[in-house]
Amino acid sequence: MRFLTLLLLGAPSVLAKCKCTPTDDCWPSASTWNTLNATVHGKLLHNQPIAEPCYPGADYNAQLCQSISAEWTNSTFIGAEPIGYCYPLTDACPPINATVSAYPSCDLGTAPVYAINATEADDVATGIKFAQENNVRLVIKNTGHDIVGRSQGYGSLMIWIKYIQNGVNYHETYTPSDGCPSNWTSSAFTVGGGYIWKNLYDAAAAHGRIVVGGSDPTVGAIGGYLQGGGHGPMSHYFGLGTDQVLEMTVVLASGDIVTANACQHPDLFTALRGGGGGTYGVVVSTTIKAHPDRPVLGHTLDVVPLNNNFPALLNISATILSKYPLLLDTGFTGDGDLISTQSEKAYVHSFGKLLPPNTTASSNIIQQAKSTINQHLLGDLLPYNSTTVAIQSTWSLFPSFLDYYNAGSHQDTTGVSDILLTSRMFDKPSLTNNTHNLTTMLHTIFAGNPNGTTLIELALIGGGQVLHPEPYTAVNPAWRKTYLLAEPVVLWPDETSPEEVKRIRDDMTFNKTDAMRALTPGMGSYVNEADGDDPLWKEDFFGSNYDWLQSIKMKYDPDDVFYCWRCVGSERWTEEKGGSGYGRLCQA
Ligand SMILES: *[C@@H]1O[C@H](CO)[C@@H](O)[C@H](O)[C@H]1NC(C)=O
Ligand SMILES: *[C@@H]1O[C@H](CO)[C@@H](O)[C@H](O)[C@H]1NC(C)=O
Ligand SMILES: *[C@@H]1O[C@H](CO)[C@@H](O)[C@H](O)[C@H]1NC(C)=O
Ligand SMILES: *[C@@H]1O[C@H](CO)[C@@H](O)[C@H](O)[C@H]1NC(C)=O
Ligand SMILES: *[C@@H]1O[C@H](CO)[C@@H](O)[C@H](O)[C@H]1NC(C)=O
Ligand SMILES: *[C@@H]1O[C@H](CO)[C@@H](O)[C@H](O)[C@H]1NC(C)=O
Ligand SMILES: *[C@@H]1O[C@H](CO)[C@@H](O)[C@H](O)[C@H]1NC(C)=O
Ligand SMILES: *[C@@H]1O[C@H](CO)[C@@H](O)[C@H](O)[C@H]1NC(C)=O
Ligand SMILES: *[C@@H]1O[C@H](CO)[C@@H](O)[C@H](O)[C@H]1NC(C)=O
Ligand SMILES: *[C@@H]1O[C@H](CO)[C@@H](O)[C@H](O)[C@H]1NC(C)=O
Ligand SMILES: *[C@@H]1O[C@H](CO)[C@@H](O)[C@H](O)[C@H]1NC(C)=O
Ligand SMILES: *[C@@H]1O[C@H](CO)[C@@H](O)[C@H](O)[C@H]1NC(C)=O
Repeated sequence: MRFLTLLLLGAPSVLAKCKCTPTDDCWPSASTWNTLNATVHGKLLHNQPIAEPCYPGADYNAQLCQSISAEWTNSTFIGAEPIGYCYPLTDACPPINATVSAYPSCDLGTAPVYAINATEADDVATGIKFAQENNVRLVIKNTGHDIVGRSQGYGSLMIWIKYIQNGVNYHETYTPSDGCPSNWTSSAFTVGGGYIWKNLYDAAAAHGRIVVGGSDPTVGAIGGYLQGGGHGPMSHYFGLGTDQVLEMTVVLASGDIVTANACQHPDLFTALRGGGGGTYGVVVSTTIKAHPDRPVLGHTLDVVPLNNNFPALLNISATILSKYPLLLDTGFTGDGDLISTQSEKAYVHSFGKLLPPNTTASSNIIQQAKSTINQHLLGDLLPYNSTTVAIQSTWSLFPSFLDYYNAGSHQDTTGVSDILLTSRMFDKPSLTNNTHNLTTMLHTIFAGNPNGTTLIELALIGGGQVLHPEPYTAVNPAWRKTYLLAEPVVLWPDETSPEEVKRIRDDMTFNKTDAMRALTPGMGSYVNEADGDDPLWKEDFFGSNYDWLQSIKMKYDPDDVFYCWRCVGSERWTEEKGGSGYGRLCQA
């Protein structure tokens, strides 16, 4: 009865609780922000749109505008900006000649209003407490690589962890910081802050080691990548990125700074290993396994259609896909790509097989690996060579993992706004001897974007060690059956009408996704390379772990000080998106 009365009496103002934004009376005053700034020793930044100098006003500067435009696709430049986002971009302030009528104004859009340029865990704790006490939306960011936009948030305070830099420290043998029994006695690295994978790959090579990181060297090492699972060139051999984690230092919603491992906060430790970034706490340091370096046998395959016969290329690509489990089980892992632009159509892959130490070019292992590929893959393709397609197959031997990695191309899509991607995990049965169904699926994926670019990234990164669940991890259980992560990507021309953009996006969210779903019942989508509009996001991103993760979220962050789009617990909040596509964050 009392509840009913409450509902009837002005329900919106009583029950609807929103985070304060700059246009609300409850937004902290200038002096409150100054007090925060003093507490973090002057590390508070008041953000301005990066491309503001391109627009009329006090900051207008044509020359600066030109140099910003030139650096817009440079992830190092973008990564050094507190509100630099790699892709996809929101168009609240593109670096263009503002007299172009389509872009009359420039504002922050979904970028946070303030940022704490944190250099130590205490700054993080201060920011969390401030956000909680002042009811301000909080965003955690390192490099700005989050595809689903989880490091953005309208009207928010950001904690930027990039400049927490307490070193990348090598341990010849791992000793747990607190004596917690560990099964890992080999080497490890402690990553003390906002480092990127390139830093880790270089450090590992200097110690004759391999670490499991991402394909893109500019992705942050300890953030959303690891906390969402993390796949890459070596996950087949050693497990997912998050499987490598031995312990973490975490700043909790309470402001406490704790160690999370198998002994201390094991439930938090588990949730942080696959349950998604930005949700349970802020990780400021992580210790990961390191593995002895080994030589790599590389195989590249290029298939280009003759006479523009794209259907033939799709058919042949499906044949190749159906051999992926065999390739993986033979030890070849890496990235494939099937791409269709206005001017170029091709299938390419660059795979590597890790060899025993000191393997020489004449070794039997190499001969056997080559003959397996020649017989089981190329044997089925060569009849089409020079008739419908042109096929090039190349072998190389690399003395170390880093030599192999550096020889590959690691695409960086920084600065792209007209893009949508999704992903789907494929298990062995969905690929093996399934050429006909895979062909049909590829035709659906490449339909419906006549003026744009469509591609499917074929991350052959599963199988092997990925199939073995590591204790204290919470990745979508579908990962433990995954061989291939297929990632369709669509890009459309700038001039595409909003209605057509919506159609292209829906085609991805429904048609293309359903075509992959039909072949992969019960599998999922990788939380870090996902379509934020996926209506089945809970089961696709988290699988059967969702409810358990939700209970850990409630335990460690009962007031939802951490919120991000499509993260665990995010259904309790809704963004009041007006015409601009962003707005206040309110309880759902
Ligand atoms: C914070 O303090 C520093 C140093 O006094 C100052 O440079 C900076 O502008 C201040 N930040 C804000 C948002 O006022
Ligand atoms: C990218 O930006 C960084 C930092 O601003 C700069 O040092 C580097 O030269 C730029 N790279 C290119 C290719 O422009
Ligand atoms: C912006 O575009 C207008 C119209 O095309 C042109 O007249 C003007 O010179 C341009 N300004 C700059 C700074 O490029
Ligand atoms: C953030 O802090 C670091 C370390 O003090 C400093 O090098 C960097 O210039 C700061 N960045 C900004 C945008 O203030
Ligand atoms: C160590 O291995 C045992 C046996 O497989 C397992 O039960 C235990 O959870 C492992 N410990 C850690 C910290 O992974
Ligand atoms: C592609 O394969 C399908 C059967 O899966 C076949 O019907 C079609 O003719 C093939 N197309 C080309 C161009 O080879
Ligand atoms: C590989 O070769 C190096 C140098 O020739 C040698 O020191 C090392 O013991 C060898 N490793 C193995 C596993 O045979
Ligand atoms: C395909 O045919 C071309 C031209 O005859 C040849 O150069 C190439 O090596 C062939 N590809 C393979 C994988 O054998
Ligand atoms: C796939 O087909 C090949 C040839 O038709 C057959 O030899 C092989 O056993 C099949 N593999 C599976 C897993 O069904
Ligand atoms: C594709 O481009 C052509 C030529 O520029 C244009 O006429 C057509 O409207 C475009 N189609 C779509 C769906 O945008
Ligand atoms: C989805 O596919 C159907 C059947 O091919 C097609 O009619 C429809 O236009 C597609 N939807 C979109 C949004 O492109
Ligand atoms: C492949 O398609 C056939 C129909 O052509 C269907 O019977 C079969 O179940 C499909 N297999 C998978 C794995 O989807």
